[in-house]
Amino acid sequence: MIGISNDHAAVELKIAICEHLKERGIEFIDYGIAAGEKIDYPDAAERPCRDIVAGKIDKAILLCGTGIGISIAANKIKGIRACACSDAFSAKYTRLHNDANCLCMGGRVVGPGLACELVDLFLDTEFEGGRHQRRVDKITELENK
Ligand code: RB5
Repeated sequence: MIGISNDHAAVELKIAICEHLKERGIEFIDYGIAAGEKIDYPDAAERPCRDIVAGKIDKAILLCGTGIGISIAANKIKGIRACACSDAFSAKYTRLHNDANCLCMGGRVVGPGLACELVDLFLDTEFEGGRHQRRVDKITELENK
């Protein structure tokens, strides 16, 4: 199960990604807002991120205008590894090497076609483990220093 959330700058992108997830048969919870509503991006990040940490969902797609604000907010929550992406290499390698659990994108940065490709790469790529596990463990240690 995955989550998706958005602020008011990414409503259309959220709708396009939800359609894509439905076409792929991927179950998701929509934590985001609809057209005409407003939410600050830290608030849009918090509920899905808390649910990841609680084990209720596995990963989340977080959307704001740039993808940056919502990724900064998400990364403040212990256990969240969020990456703002607008290219395929980053979306793939943040899973392979960083075991990222949130993919963040900007509704004012990427179009729906690219965004859905990045979602597919993010969801379909497994963490490589090995030497990368040690590095991810060090990220977790930083949370407690
Ligand atoms: C909202 O207008 C905008 O500031 C927000 O979506 C985002 O781009 C912040 O990083």
